Amino acid sequence: MKLPQSSTQQVPAVSILPNHIAIIMDGNGRWAKKRFLPRVAGHKRGLDAMRSIVRACVERKIQYLTLFAFSSENWRRPEEEVTFLMQLFAYALESEVAKLHDNNIRFRVIGELSRFDEKIVTLVKNAEKKTQHNSSLNLTIAANYGGRWDILQALNRLVKEKPHTLQGYTEQDLAPYLTMGLIPEPDLFIRTGGEQRISNFMLWQLAYTEFYFTDLLWPDFNAQALDAAILSYQQRERRFGRTSDQLVSSPEIPPLAPDR
Ligand code: IPE
Ligand code: IPE
Ligand code: MG
Repeated sequence: MKLPQSSTQQVPAVSILPNHIAIIMDGNGRWAKKRFLPRVAGHKRGLDAMRSIVRACVERKIQYLTLFAFSSENWRRPEEEVTFLMQLFAYALESEVAKLHDNNIRFRVIGELSRFDEKIVTLVKNAEKKTQHNSSLNLTIAANYGGRWDILQALNRLVKEKPHTLQGYTEQDLAPYLTMGLIPEPDLFIRTGGEQRISNFMLWQLAYTEFYFTDLLWPDFNAQALDAAILSYQQRERRFGRTSDQLVSSPEIPPLAPDR
């Protein structure tokens, strides 16, 4: 079986462009408030920004884009806002999936779907099925997603399927059960909206990701802003535990001992 690449098990190949970009799209409410508009107007504009960033990633030949759309903690928001976000999600699924498919984009949703309306669950399942063989950008939307939930659901499924182990479970045992499965870990994490926190996003997968924070509010984030983030990424030295001297003298260090 193919195993997921793990930045803690072996030093991953690093290329000039991030292979996987993960984004916390934050600041919709503040964008609206600044314009004396209701918060939901910010969410609508946030959907426009999503469209333009998806397009920009396709143009830049990014392989994986993962967008945090709704966290497991966002249910704590006022009921009207949650209802609007659900309607917007359903609308986006209805209106965008054909376009994604025409652009050869593979679409997935990660998160606990059971809490959504059946209509949304069906739209998600159909969209995933329709686009499953597409081979340009892999677009993943995290909805009712939480990093702790992800680790726990993986652990529970692992223990259920393989209840007995002599040596204890390894990273390789757990990783395939995580919602991102075989998808490579993010190279670049972007959070808009000025906050510098993870807010329970991909806790496991961000172990060695480069972080980029911008004060731009999500509806204002565009292709140019994406390029600024990529440029910042390109100036980082990704050491994965090694020293800078090691990187200069032999960038191709052998993998760490497997199966730790
Ligand atoms: C992010 O924008 C979108 C969601 C969490 C759904 P916010 O709605 O969090 O916007 P701010 O942070 O209040 O400005
Ligand atoms: C994180 O944004 C979740 C999404 C963007 C979907 P929040 O706005 O909910 O984060 P906190 O609560 O301010 O940390
Ligand atoms: Mg916010």
